[in-house]
Amino acid sequence: MADRLKLGLAGIGTVGGGLLRLIEAHAGALSERAGQPIEVVAVSARNKRKKRDVDLSGLRFVQDPIKLATDPEIDVFVELIGGEEGIAKEAVETALRAGKHVVTANKALLAHHGPNLAALAEKHGVALNFEGAVAGGIPVVKVIREGLQGNDIARVYGILNGTCNYILTLMEREGRSFADVLKEAQEQGYAEADPTFDVGGFDTAHKLALLTSLAFGTRTKFDAVYVEGIESITPADIEAADDLGYRIKLLGVALRTDSGIEQRVHPTMVPKDTAIANVDGVSNCVAIDGDFVGDVMLIGPGAGGGPTASAVMSDIIDIARGQVLPPFGIKAKNLRAYRKAQMRAHEGGYYIRLSVHDRTGAFAAIAQRMAAQGISLESIVQRRPQTELPGQGTRGGGPAGVVMVTHETTEAAVRKALVAIERDGHVDAKPQMIRIEKL
Ligand code: HSE
Repeated sequence: MADRLKLGLAGIGTVGGGLLRLIEAHAGALSERAGQPIEVVAVSARNKRKKRDVDLSGLRFVQDPIKLATDPEIDVFVELIGGEEGIAKEAVETALRAGKHVVTANKALLAHHGPNLAALAEKHGVALNFEGAVAGGIPVVKVIREGLQGNDIARVYGILNGTCNYILTLMEREGRSFADVLKEAQEQGYAEADPTFDVGGFDTAHKLALLTSLAFGTRTKFDAVYVEGIESITPADIEAADDLGYRIKLLGVALRTDSGIEQRVHPTMVPKDTAIANVDGVSNCVAIDGDFVGDVMLIGPGAGGGPTASAVMSDIIDIARGQVLPPFGIKAKNLRAYRKAQMRAHEGGYYIRLSVHDRTGAFAAIAQRMAAQGISLESIVQRRPQTELPGQGTRGGGPAGVVMVTHETTEAAVRKALVAIERDGHVDAKPQMIRIEKL
């Protein structure tokens, strides 16, 4: 056994800084658990002089991460740069080709290039570990790849983005609009200056693509993920959900269906009395339905320097112990291509909110359009319009909020019905449609 495990750390941002602090705080215990001391011997960052709250003195600085990737002194290249292409990809490939183990928290890189990078790692007999890439501090990669290997997994789903969960939680608690809460989250540093990646659902989709490969042994295919963000959710939806016994969460869901594997990210109604409905704030949650184990759920911090560093360190210790597993649990060449289930074939219940002109026959026409698509309604409720005065009804016949909940139906049927309803001219805004998840 080598006398110590030597790391080259590329990227000293929130997670890189967290990793340096973790190593400093727990050096003795880490050494015992790993069977050898773990030491950062060289670092790379875009800006050497940037003010950081970690001490870099004593660490060799290598300006170019690609140079660091082949540094003869390092055993493990820790990539915490980020980004699906460019320098991160080049550095990881270079490290693998040079026979260095790689630990990364880069979900975008793996969601787009996972199988190829896994094949490269296997070819060179090194590890490509990515616990920090999915749900931050929640050790879900290991749980699926190692703890649940004995199972056939039918579904994996979860709350995989802390920013969205924080925004939805605040909208619910304080009755505020999406834009208002997002602005505050940006001011407080919970949301990025460009929040599209988080609120648009893409970050969740990257993580879901990785969970899908781990759970089903399939090739990672980011483009097969259907993505909707939380931008369209209004206080009216949150209030209606509450009245109906639901909460709205941005879920990533991957499941096997008769028509292939469904991978989808969208705002979802979840029953209030379920555990996932009560995962609030920046927390994440991942649930796995296995045939022998039953339903497993993990809840914890999904982002941040400390939690992600915790995940990265677990990957490093595995390497120190000599454990090199196929990154996705089975050999890269055996990762299966699969049929993507089309969203229009998705089956489930739907919440639909319409802003309906107050005209005779409008309700009847809407109900008819739903019936024409074979959609059975569980409930239809006219919500109190903004302009209503208690006991006096609406003023001036303004549009009424109508909320429908369907029994199980298909996405194709709902979409066709909504197109027809819009075409009939009884609504004055685009219908809102939120899927209800069976839990
Ligand atoms: N931005 C992510 C989140 C964390 O808000 O959960 C990194 O993927």
